[in-house]
Amino acid sequence: MVLLPYNRPDLLEETFNQHGDQLAAAILEPVYYNAGCVLPTEDFLATLFCLTREHGVLLIFDEVLSAFRMAPGGAQEFLGVTPDLCTLGKAVGGGFPLSVFGGKAHIMERLMPTGDCQHSGTYNGHPVPVAAGLAAVSAYREPGFYDHINAVADRLYQGLTEVFERHGVAARVQGLGARFGIYFGVSGKVRNYRDTVKHHREKMLSFIAAAISKGVYFHDYGGAACHHGFCAAMSLADADEALNRLDDAVRQLS
Ligand SMILES: Cc1ncc(COP(=O)(O)O)c(C=O)c1O
Repeated sequence: MVLLPYNRPDLLEETFNQHGDQLAAAILEPVYYNAGCVLPTEDFLATLFCLTREHGVLLIFDEVLSAFRMAPGGAQEFLGVTPDLCTLGKAVGGGFPLSVFGGKAHIMERLMPTGDCQHSGTYNGHPVPVAAGLAAVSAYREPGFYDHINAVADRLYQGLTEVFERHGVAARVQGLGARFGIYFGVSGKVRNYRDTVKHHREKMLSFIAAAISKGVYFHDYGGAACHHGFCAAMSLADADEALNRLDDAVRQLS
């Protein structure tokens, strides 16, 4: 296994040149929400796509987190790149425990009963989560669903940036669709994991405590810059209410 930093096409070139004939697959989060919210650069994605084609390496998108957050076809639709295989989770079940993997027919046909690769598990294809997943995906395809997600996202991420500015708290908000990251003490664009570790962990912990004291829940990743978000039920009025409360919370930090 070769581990590479995000958004470094030069290192992709180097690695494929060195190890291309030994690589089976390249896997990544197509939108790197586990580092808050980091988008792949066009150059990085194009290089990765071309190198995997050239070297016969499977391209796998881990969309456990990114699926359905910004488009009904997930990050692959948003970015316009179709991988060979992908994993889907979380939003795919609409709140029920469901995970899915899928991909090109010639690969999926390798699974039994059509192929020679065994895949089974206690809850695989359980009818209740599958029914919930189908209902969720139908809801995501309703006209206007992503207009609403994007309107709340714009209000929330812009509003949060303004709250930090108003109170002189150095923090950067990066978001796409229903999920976002906050990086305290960081002013430039966050492009990879190494950028996120420059974020001020203690400030994040104080922010989370202040936000929760005002009734706005943020998940605590031990202060690390990871992803936050909202659900489809959140209205613009809810976003405004959250922002008012966060204004009070951030005032305590400054
Ligand atoms: C991008 C991504 N992939 C995989 C996983 C783990 O999935 P599972 O719990 O099904 O192993 C997570 C969990 O948060 C995730 O964010």
